[in-house]
Amino acid sequence: MTVAKEMVRQNFNVDAVRADFPILHQQINGHDLVFLDTGASAQKPRQVIEAMVSVMQNDYANVHRGVYSLSQRATDLFEASRHKIAEFINAPNEDAVIFTRGATEAINLVAFSYGQRLGPGDEILTTEIEHHSNIVPWQLLADRQGAKVIFAPITDNGELDMDATRDLITDRTKIVAAAHVSNTMGTILPIKELAELAHRVGAVILADGCQAAPHLKVDVQDLGVDFYAFSSHKIYGPTGIGALYGRPEILADMPPYQGGGEMIETVEKTGSTFKLPPHRFEAGTPAIVEAVGFGAAIDYVNSVGLEAAGAHEIEVCSHAEKLLRSMREVELLGRPNSKTSVLSFNVKGAHAHDVGTILDQQGVAIRAGQHCAQTVMDRFGLHATARASFGMYNTMAEAEALAKAVAKTIEIFG
Ligand SMILES: Cc1ncc(COP(=O)(O)O)c(C=O)c1O
Repeated sequence: MTVAKEMVRQNFNVDAVRADFPILHQQINGHDLVFLDTGASAQKPRQVIEAMVSVMQNDYANVHRGVYSLSQRATDLFEASRHKIAEFINAPNEDAVIFTRGATEAINLVAFSYGQRLGPGDEILTTEIEHHSNIVPWQLLADRQGAKVIFAPITDNGELDMDATRDLITDRTKIVAAAHVSNTMGTILPIKELAELAHRVGAVILADGCQAAPHLKVDVQDLGVDFYAFSSHKIYGPTGIGALYGRPEILADMPPYQGGGEMIETVEKTGSTFKLPPHRFEAGTPAIVEAVGFGAAIDYVNSVGLEAAGAHEIEVCSHAEKLLRSMREVELLGRPNSKTSVLSFNVKGAHAHDVGTILDQQGVAIRAGQHCAQTVMDRFGLHATARASFGMYNTMAEAEALAKAVAKTIEIFG
């Protein structure tokens, strides 16, 4: 860690952060809750909860429609969230940010709308490290358009094999779709380099930022991506909402994803005309309360400081990793050089689900299974792993509680 990073980390106060998360202060199965499943969905600070309650109690009405003051207030709050998200990822303006139901819908939107320009023989390059959300929409697109999905391989360390990837990006490639951060191993993928490779052959690139935005500073312009997708619930906000960034000149040329109210300019029996982005892609009444909560989550992360939180999470995760690596019976998945705060592991002779259950009996909540990443499991010849993923509220003591609970599991399995 550099001196500057170390100074930022030292200014981080995990106790103050924990005090903001009411749910963490409870016992599960007679033990203090140790929540290590933030990668699946993060817990919510009271600032987010209060913002959502407040909009429902004081400012709620449908947005973009009413001529009355309350509707105007709700619209202002809704659009203020869009503005916060645009600033958070350094989008050139808020019209480049589309509200979706989550990262999954964001990726489906691009596959459905942008994907219409693909034809037979065209290729979509994704990777073996992806969440199913960044594979299945492309397979559906390939089936519709007669295109083909190609998988860039990953190495034994759990990194993208860049030599192989370079060879796979060719004139046939029309879309490159890659995770910014892996949900199984925390690997940070070289998105900027992938963007350069994609653009060199005239392709566009979509980065799935679900596991990146809560932990790393994201700058969509610096990364050079054309699309960036992420979910609110993984960044301490509510479920049911996410964001898609799209490069404005590309969005301007994309057809609607769904039809309905809010997205049209005119509707006649002979046909309809559509609004400009982002509204063209937001058919129907949006998730108004959730959008306000999403904005409050961005405010919260900004107030804590993403860099300080990220450095803290790495420290806690590295401590857990060191403790787990010291146990002969534990096998960790991958060893990427550049990673965030996620650990996938197995205990020899025990199924990941049993590990998860025994850990739960000790108050430690982890995820067990395929993590919606079957191609990763296949790559490593596994059926499942246990996964501990860390958020800004986790402590060094919790890393130790994880190790202690795993040691107990080893004892039980002999
Ligand atoms: C890397 C990655 N991409 C996409 C998703 C899908 O996100 P959502 O279910 O919020 O749409 C997840 C969720 O676990 C993820 O980890």
